[in-house]
Amino acid sequence: MSGTVVVGMQWGDEGKGKITDFLSRDADIVTRYQGGDNAGHTIKENGQTYHLRTIPSGILRANKTCVLGNGIVLNPKSLVAEITRLHEAGVSIDNLVISDRAHIILPYHIALDQAQENYRHDNKIGTTNRGIGPAYTDKAERSGIRMVDLLDKDVFAKKLTINLKFKNELLTKIYHQDALDYDTIFSEFFEYGQQLKKYVVDSSELLNHAIEDGKNLLFEGAQGIMLDLDHGTYPYVTSSNPAGGVSVGAGIGPQAINHVVGVAKAYTSRVGDGPFPTEQTNEIGDYLRDAGHEYGVVTKRPRRIGWLDAVVLNHSRKVAGVTELCLNSIDVLTGLETIKICVAYELHGQRIDYYPASLKDIADCTPIYEEFPGWQEDITHAQNLIDLPENAQRYVQRISELVKLPLATFSVGPDREQTIVLKDVWKQSVLNGHI
Ligand code: IMP
Repeated sequence: MSGTVVVGMQWGDEGKGKITDFLSRDADIVTRYQGGDNAGHTIKENGQTYHLRTIPSGILRANKTCVLGNGIVLNPKSLVAEITRLHEAGVSIDNLVISDRAHIILPYHIALDQAQENYRHDNKIGTTNRGIGPAYTDKAERSGIRMVDLLDKDVFAKKLTINLKFKNELLTKIYHQDALDYDTIFSEFFEYGQQLKKYVVDSSELLNHAIEDGKNLLFEGAQGIMLDLDHGTYPYVTSSNPAGGVSVGAGIGPQAINHVVGVAKAYTSRVGDGPFPTEQTNEIGDYLRDAGHEYGVVTKRPRRIGWLDAVVLNHSRKVAGVTELCLNSIDVLTGLETIKICVAYELHGQRIDYYPASLKDIADCTPIYEEFPGWQEDITHAQNLIDLPENAQRYVQRISELVKLPLATFSVGPDREQTIVLKDVWKQSVLNGHI
């Protein structure tokens, strides 16, 4: 039995989908354990592009069970639409499994997400407006509606009546929005529940049986560790735990995990508001945004861009227990004269190498950079580290050293053959192949 988790080490959009898809080849089960349809994975396969929101990317491989664990928040409407799109593209959904304990996102969560963001004005979080925060709020506040509740007409009716009464008070009296209609929500969402019913099981039972049977389990973290509710740049975070959420969100013990694969880009990007010490709001940022096509999959927003931050990566390594590094998008840096890595911060005259909890302190941090000469050569055909120009090799090796992690893969472009695998995480052997 092997349990491997894939997590993003920055603020999301590190290219986890491709790595998860690759690792899913040797996995029996692929599980999402947190987040909802705020995530967006794009996968290119046989000339076709798939945009996945909630369903794990393992769905594109036949015979893989794909689990939506109890720790996710699930929007039945968008999940039914995603299933329909995949069906139309000829992808089988027969192996999808949904936890009966997963909480569902309803229209009032989305309405409240938008209303709260407007209400926050200058302090807005920059959410994806998918109702994620309000759905997790209800879960913690113990008024949430779970998949198992949605399937029971009486329970759903009762819970929806109670919840909607309060949410409509909030929407109309505090946020001055229109009230939502009970009958419309009930009939629409009960029907989605009926369509999803065949996928719903106790997924923790399923995963624990698989562990007993010695299966390979892959866990797909959504977002990135700097967006983790506990370990990210709070409050500019999402409302779940990509870092350590796997055990709680899948219903398995922590001893089931042997590897935590951390995915990072060779620079940094972020969508939404919040601190970003190495941000480049200048021609370097513009250059990298264009070269890396850095626009949100879900929101289409232009992403904020900055230099690689080793303080961030070390923070993520520690709080998530990352064991190996997948470094993506090295090619995006081609053409720059000088490339920088932030190796520490200066805070109030002192050098620090940890990520402060206080937003005020982060705002006062000045990055301390190491500078590297860039490269001009096209690296998009590299098949191994030694194919990279010396300056690129030095840059990559320094990252691995600074972050204290061995490199499992690196990528020089978006296509499968442009991600080079150096180490087989499942078998722990050294490879020289590509995804
Ligand atoms: P929420 O998850 O929609 O509540 O958004 C909270 C923060 O997380 C915002 O800054 C979003 O932009 C960010 N976020 C949520 N999901 C993703 C993602 O998949 N990639 C990158 N950022 C994300």
